[in-house]
Amino acid sequence: MKTTITHKITVRFQQENRTISFDVPEGENILHFFEENGEKLPFSCRNGCCTACAVKIISGSIDQSNGIGLSKQMQEKGYGLLCIAKVIGPVSVETQAEDEVYELQFGQYLSSIKNKAGNPFDI
Ligand code: FES
Repeated sequence: MKTTITHKITVRFQQENRTISFDVPEGENILHFFEENGEKLPFSCRNGCCTACAVKIISGSIDQSNGIGLSKQMQEKGYGLLCIAKVIGPVSVETQAEDEVYELQFGQYLSSIKNKAGNPFDI
């Protein structure tokens, strides 16, 4: 008989001011597992591209090798995307405002762009 290894995954859902935890099998997708267990977390593209599901990792780590939405620098600063995150061990994360992570990642580039009127690009 095969034994399933599980790890405690804790999400501090800041937008709803509550904390959710599950024991999740290793290798499972975090966003999908939470949804299948009745907990809808923020998402949009579901493909690791948009940052709507971005979290700050408080402790532990996740496998997010399938995502392209966060730069390596943002990943090294402790940000992750739950829609492509696979469980590799116990982890605690907190949800982020989507535009907060978007601004951190792209704001420096967009602030140097001017619109047709010559004004800074407003993000
Ligand atoms: S839902 Fe878009 S990056 Fe996760």
